[in-house]
Amino acid sequence: MQTNRYGFLRRILHWVGALSVLGLLAVGMLFFFFGVEGTQKLFGPDVLKYHKSFGVVVLIVGVLVLFMRRSSGIPPYDPPLTFLLRWPSKLVHWLMILALIAMPILGWLGTAAAGHEVQFFNWTLPGIIGKNDVWAKTLFQYHLLVGWVLMGLVGVHLLGAFVHGKVAHDNINSRMSLL
Ligand code: HEM
Repeated sequence: MQTNRYGFLRRILHWVGALSVLGLLAVGMLFFFFGVEGTQKLFGPDVLKYHKSFGVVVLIVGVLVLFMRRSSGIPPYDPPLTFLLRWPSKLVHWLMILALIAMPILGWLGTAAAGHEVQFFNWTLPGIIGKNDVWAKTLFQYHLLVGWVLMGLVGVHLLGAFVHGKVAHDNINSRMSLL
């Protein structure tokens, strides 16, 4: 069966984004259960700096994917996907792209509102908004909420990838594979 793959840059962006998101969600869960300081005790003081930095990486990936999806769409399916598969996958992809953009923005603004530095590896990015404890609390509540939603979406997406690869044995996964 012939498959139409995503362009090379798009496949690179997918895997940079996917690996970053998996790491960020895992560290986010540690922050949730052990607190930021508890996690820093376990993994070192730089864990927060890398959480912020890879969050910005995900923001860049999300924005680029959004533009690419708007400008060039997605490669056609060969054979075409049934209507029942096409729409749920389209919905999950779009919601993931939006979450990949919303989540880092909420974290960025929440960090600034809490009066902390928005670190991007060894640089400091502009905070955009000033210190405001009430906003910080609200922004981090939404950061967490979008995090749970993203985790659910990623779970559905991974289940889909598993079914395509191991049950249906179609070539959908090779559309995004690097090899
Ligand atoms: C945290 C993990 C992941 C995230 C956040 C993620 C996110 C995304 C997003 C946003 C898209 C739409 C891309 C675009 O329009 O350019 C996409 C497509 C895709 N992803 Fe993932 N992904 C993840 C993991 C995986 C894994 C592990 C696999 C396969 C083993 C996979 C396979 C695919 C495939 C095949 C497509 C294209 C689907 C199609 O057009 O039919 N993804 N992913």
